[in-house]
Amino acid sequence: KDMKNEIENEIISLNTEFEGKDTEFVLKTMLNRFNSSITLASSLGAEDQVLTYLCSKINPNMDIFVLDTGRLNPETYEVMEESRKAYNINYRVFYPNQEKVEQLASTKGLFSFYESIDNRKECCNIRKVEPLGRALSGKKAWITGLRKQQSVTRTDLAIAQWDDTFNLIKFNPLANWSEDDIWTFIKEHNIPYNRLHDQGFPSIGCAPCTRAIKPGEDLRAGRWWWETPEQKECGLHVVDGKLVPKRNHG
Ligand code: ADX
Ligand code: SF4
Repeated sequence: KDMKNEIENEIISLNTEFEGKDTEFVLKTMLNRFNSSITLASSLGAEDQVLTYLCSKINPNMDIFVLDTGRLNPETYEVMEESRKAYNINYRVFYPNQEKVEQLASTKGLFSFYESIDNRKECCNIRKVEPLGRALSGKKAWITGLRKQQSVTRTDLAIAQWDDTFNLIKFNPLANWSEDDIWTFIKEHNIPYNRLHDQGFPSIGCAPCTRAIKPGEDLRAGRWWWETPEQKECGLHVVDGKLVPKRNHG
């Protein structure tokens, strides 16, 4: 209980400290405070490319990891390689547990996620959540590219949060950035980005679970498009420490 209070107070004071500060200051503070115990989660999406640029400028040895689900688009691997060279990064890459992914493919085939939410979560658990646990082990804080404006499940996002699932601090330094802020910054600093962003893909996950959106559609409308917006979190990110509550469903 005391531990929990202590952590809650630390989170509150971090958020207060960050109020009104620019993102570079916020990142510098985080990186200096946590040193080798902080890591950046990169999906190679636009937000993560901004963070990769900023973090490697502050600390050229910044720990950055990628969860390679085995189902990513070729364009994602391409920008990963481009960034590896441009920023001289050795990404820590995490793959799904071999036995689990072999068993899933052998019993349910390669497209089980279209059949039910349970199947979809099973696949995300094997390909993303379990590897994420390994990526975060031994760390005290992780940085993500989450933004408030991305989704109905993300409107309450703070810059510093306690991650109840993985038991470490979670930083979302771009929480208040708009889509425009991201693209202005990318263009201004000539940051490499996933070519799919030019083809109607604002948000990119696994290839079979991501499609292009039409003008005017929600930013994440192309992610797990066969599900309702409230269900679209894969277990990497939860809402208020819980998986999306049932009451949100119509
Ligand atoms: S997801 O939960 O729906 O897949 P989203 O694609 O919006 O998440 O990405 C949000 C943040 O989660 C990213 O900015 C990144 O920090 C982290 N993330 C998502 N996918 C990956 C991945 N494959 N590898 C590493 N980090 C990831
Ligand atoms: Fe599996 Fe799709 Fe989740 Fe990727 S996004 S892990 S392919 S269900």
